[in-house]
Amino acid sequence: MPKTLKQLSRQVQKLREKINYYNRKYHVDDSPEISDAAFDKLFEQLLALEKQYPELVSADSPSQRVGSEVSKKFENLPHRIQMLSLQKVTTAEEFAAFDQRVSEGLESNQDIEYYTEPKLDGLAVELIYRNGLFETGLTRGDGSSGENITPNLRTIRTIPLRLSEQIASKYPLLEVRGEVIMRKSDFEKLNETLRASNQTTLANSRNGAAGSLRQLDSSITASRPLLFYAFGISDRELPGIDSQQTAIELLKSEGFKINEHAHSSVGKSKVEKAFNKLTKKRPTLDYEIDGMVIKVNSFEEQTMLGQIARAPRWAVAWKFEAEQAETILLDVEFSVGRTGVVTPVAKLKPVKVSGVTVSSASLHNEDEIKALDIRIGDTVVIQRAGEVIPDVIEVLLEHRPKNSKPIKFPSRCPSCDRAVTRPSGEAAYRCLNFSCPSQVEGRLIYFASKAGVDIDGLGEKLARQLCQQELVKDPADIYFLKKEDLLPLDLMADKKAENLLAAIDKSRRAELPKIIAALGIIGVGETAAKILAAEFTDFDKLLIAEQETLETIAGIGPVIAENILAFFSDKSHRRMMDKLKAGGVKFLPYKLKSKAGVLLGKTFVITGTLSKPRPYFKKLIEDNGGKVTGSVSSSTDYLLCGTKPGSKEVKAKKLGVEAIGEKRLKALLS
Ligand code: IVH
Repeated sequence: MPKTLKQLSRQVQKLREKINYYNRKYHVDDSPEISDAAFDKLFEQLLALEKQYPELVSADSPSQRVGSEVSKKFENLPHRIQMLSLQKVTTAEEFAAFDQRVSEGLESNQDIEYYTEPKLDGLAVELIYRNGLFETGLTRGDGSSGENITPNLRTIRTIPLRLSEQIASKYPLLEVRGEVIMRKSDFEKLNETLRASNQTTLANSRNGAAGSLRQLDSSITASRPLLFYAFGISDRELPGIDSQQTAIELLKSEGFKINEHAHSSVGKSKVEKAFNKLTKKRPTLDYEIDGMVIKVNSFEEQTMLGQIARAPRWAVAWKFEAEQAETILLDVEFSVGRTGVVTPVAKLKPVKVSGVTVSSASLHNEDEIKALDIRIGDTVVIQRAGEVIPDVIEVLLEHRPKNSKPIKFPSRCPSCDRAVTRPSGEAAYRCLNFSCPSQVEGRLIYFASKAGVDIDGLGEKLARQLCQQELVKDPADIYFLKKEDLLPLDLMADKKAENLLAAIDKSRRAELPKIIAALGIIGVGETAAKILAAEFTDFDKLLIAEQETLETIAGIGPVIAENILAFFSDKSHRRMMDKLKAGGVKFLPYKLKSKAGVLLGKTFVITGTLSKPRPYFKKLIEDNGGKVTGSVSSSTDYLLCGTKPGSKEVKAKKLGVEAIGEKRLKALLS
């Protein structure tokens, strides 16, 4: 018997609850309970049901986290309550003076109860929950108003889309504040991907978070590994929330991620201890912090203390010393990556920088070396800012020894000895030898990595061996490996060889975007690969696509189009494609959430009360290729109007944007 809508709705609700639960376990509690595959399965079930019954889609469904909205620019919205900044101290004496001022302000001679939290180095945002539903999210901006980046924040898994019913009814308006950050390890991975596709890399994880949050296309944000840590609420007068600690506990129980090193510290000396402990912890943390925030715990006391200009009197940021050190440049080595780019790496006399021993630093490229005027033997200042690999930021010329040696960029590839060239307009030298061992190895590592077809067990060490033994000359060769080829390799037992062959076999059926990304075409990362896979369901058509066809695809553009063309017109790449096919790689057709359709290129704004919830219409429009944005502008094509449309209709009229009803929308769709 077919299910009634009510039964379906219950089924969908159950699924969402399950997904939310496992999502929280994975992203908030860092203790996953089911496998990724099992999670994906639940998620696919939900997507399928929502696709079949679009009327069941709701704004708080986990399906809404994938991101699709493209904004032209972000609108500015005021903060209801100003987002303040913090006074800063850098020494125990300065903190003692702050503590003294607090005591005087409260006319208290007892130890003050503080709440101490790591100062996360990301981007502060405010999340507005109305009746429990995540409604709007803003950047801090200038403190009085910020940018509306709701679609981007929605993609962050550690931001709950709905709060519990109990909290929703107790606090119909709840504004949660916190920091969006990117883990150091994730930042490194992102930079690697950017570097690999010749895009500008990001200086530190803070820029990684900020840059990802300010993407106009929220599907790009969705692909970036961002975390939200809640650090407070904006109101000081909510019933039942009388301190920072209570607020944090409430947020925690609502599923927000709370920093594990936040706690109450009573009295000046406890705070100092907490600061020293955090300083020691810092190098071991997988996220950047630049100090400790110390807040007077009681909201009543906070209110008594008030604020000066733009910072509260009840809180202070105790900042760490900068993470710099002096050392000596011993040598410069040059390494070659999969794209043939030759990168100079500074070899340093080992030195400790905030707890970590550093012996190499990045010198980026020849221009950087010239700009620094750096020579071997120089005393240099290095800085660990965000990246695990530090940067050389300064040369102390006064310490330059007489016998210092200028750095000579190699004219031949350090791996294959072929002459290197510096293409005009590029900062990098490249080895153009496709068979260069370092490149072959780099390509294989990339092909098998998570960014590519994701072959379990095929990492750097094995890739090196496979290339050195000349078992692999290009990634496609792995599909012809036999067990007897593998067994003579180091540390390769029977079982391991079998597992590897099974993993290789599995990758034959990898999704088309994965295979395209694995090829390592410059500029074609995960997003572009998805677009291409959706456009060219018949993979062979991509191989012969022309420049004009490629560059008109939304999200590709002329530069990437040229790279694709150049890639597939190269003979060795053609041979590799043939080998992939002969080796049994499937190139299965791929379907992007239907982006094509009759409404392609049309932008809608929805207003007023319609016969079904707005997300229903949003999905309907998007499923047919249209876009839905939040505010009417000259680039809006249609205003979908329900009853009581309000100011949007007035604006639409002014701008000459056509207002339509549900009937006309249906007509457009047919
Ligand atoms: S509280 C008055 N708590 O620091 C309260 N801020 O200089 C001000 N930040 O814009 C914010 N970690 O980006 C607070 N645990 C934390 C924080 C924190 C990082 C940043 C935040 C804010 C800046 C203030």
